[in-house]
Amino acid sequence: MAEFHQVKIAEIVKETKDTVSITFDIPEHLQKTFEFIQGQYLTLRKIINGEDIRRSYSLCTSPLEKKWKVAVKKIPGGVFSSYANDTLKVGDEIEIMEPSGSFFVEVEKSASKNYIAFAAGSGITPMLSIIKTHLLSEPKSTFKLFYLNRTVKSIIFKEEIERLKNQFFGRFQVFYFLTKEQRDIPFLNGRFDTQKLNVLTKTFIDIEDTSDCFICGPQEMIFLIRDHLVEAGLDKEKVHYELFFSGDSDKDSQHIAEVLEQKVDGTEVTIIDGGKEFHFVMDDDFDNILDGALAAGADLPFACKGGVCSTCKCKVVEGSVEMKINYALIESEVKQNLVLSCQAVPTTEKVVVDFDV
Ligand code: FES
Repeated sequence: MAEFHQVKIAEIVKETKDTVSITFDIPEHLQKTFEFIQGQYLTLRKIINGEDIRRSYSLCTSPLEKKWKVAVKKIPGGVFSSYANDTLKVGDEIEIMEPSGSFFVEVEKSASKNYIAFAAGSGITPMLSIIKTHLLSEPKSTFKLFYLNRTVKSIIFKEEIERLKNQFFGRFQVFYFLTKEQRDIPFLNGRFDTQKLNVLTKTFIDIEDTSDCFICGPQEMIFLIRDHLVEAGLDKEKVHYELFFSGDSDKDSQHIAEVLEQKVDGTEVTIIDGGKEFHFVMDDDFDNILDGALAAGADLPFACKGGVCSTCKCKVVEGSVEMKINYALIESEVKQNLVLSCQAVPTTEKVVVDFDV
């Protein structure tokens, strides 16, 4: 089971008014454990005002840089993001879990692929990792990035992006879209919508020649772009996305209500973790296995509790559960009975789940 490790903060840089980048000092003996793939994330943990706060942040560095860096954007009222922006300093210690996530495609050194990417705000972090890795490792591949922000000043990592444009001249193109500032080219003003995507797929993007597309941002943006690209002819398998800002849509709320109606009260749950069994009975106060287990004293991995990160993934080996929402597991994983325990509502009187997967 992935576990948390205490590490020191090596560097903090104020990237924009409300975003800091944090570099971790991973000691030599942990570097193997913290090896990562481009596009993966770290889960950070800190006890703040007595509460166990966990958040996942994508690495913005490439594995080739041997550097572990994330960016944290301050969210109004956000406990962890405020702590990271206002209190955390170089030399402080924080707990981080080894890298995780499946927002990537394999690097093929001899390939000549044409990648495209769409990012909004801090959704740039995994993109930077992915872009640097593919362009460095695949000398014949190209990348086009469509990057949405509010204003020029709020563009995170603008300097680095511009530097990469020079470094990979002719192979890396960036198109900045702004929502709160008007520029001379109207097309670059405002968020991605059907009209803009129509222009993009007709003039900027050669769908037939596109190898993979990466999207990172809010749910609405992701699904709009994904559906548009698929309709324009891009194979669904080639569209990869990472959800950054979760917010239940109306469709989600309806599905959650339907799932909760199927909930069985007082389910006897067995958790298998680290080869050991833990038994408890679901308390009526909780609707999902993770919360029920934590309240009963189990020590299980979790981060977002929002169906996004998959840190809480486990396999149902007996009984059945229904997930409220799932933005993390792909179809083939669900078919193998994998579920997100933070979203898993028990629907039988007995459920056995295995976290050793
Ligand atoms: S804790 Fe993130 S999906 Fe469950």
